[in-house]
Amino acid sequence: MKSLKYLFDNNLAWATTIKEKDPEFFSQLSKQQTPEYLWIGCSDSRVPPNQLVNLPPGEIFVHRNIANIVVHTDLNCLSVIQYAVEVLKVKNIIVCGHYGCGGIKAALEEQEHGLIDNWLRHVKDVHRFNAERFEGLTHDEKLDLLCEINVKEQATNICNTTIVQNAWKQGCELSVHGWIYNLENGILKDLDTCVTSSDVNRRKT
Ligand code: CO
Repeated sequence: MKSLKYLFDNNLAWATTIKEKDPEFFSQLSKQQTPEYLWIGCSDSRVPPNQLVNLPPGEIFVHRNIANIVVHTDLNCLSVIQYAVEVLKVKNIIVCGHYGCGGIKAALEEQEHGLIDNWLRHVKDVHRFNAERFEGLTHDEKLDLLCEINVKEQATNICNTTIVQNAWKQGCELSVHGWIYNLENGILKDLDTCVTSSDVNRRKT
């Protein structure tokens, strides 16, 4: 007997619905992927990229981890960025955080959580670098602010990767965006951190 049978039932119903609308959908998509977006987001089950922006399979290349962190020594994340930029030639990299992020909350608190505390050190660093901005805020305000600042910091980290720097040097059309999602109302917000190759080249001149 198949375990988790209801998931296979769901899958069959999903695939059937898509094929009814577009009989060639899967056969066409199986030949190639040409997504325009790389999404780097939190692993949180409540923040599913394709559903949030209502795009079908094939449109978004995705990397997710706890607290949507981009670290220059993380070969997993860097490999995703390299493949997305150099092979798939995505035009937009979106780092999307979310309010109420458990990873960010854990990084703000002193409680120990074991192995994951090593990963969350990156968020604790973001907090420490910006310590003065948190003075006088309530705990909830601190949490919201750290969720936002963390997105901006990770967007900067993406911009500073050799992969993105080289793409910009070569004149590739590539933008890096910082967004945040609100679990309570399902709405995305642009944190106005967009950086493009023309911004970088303008700064140099
Ligand atoms: Co999260």
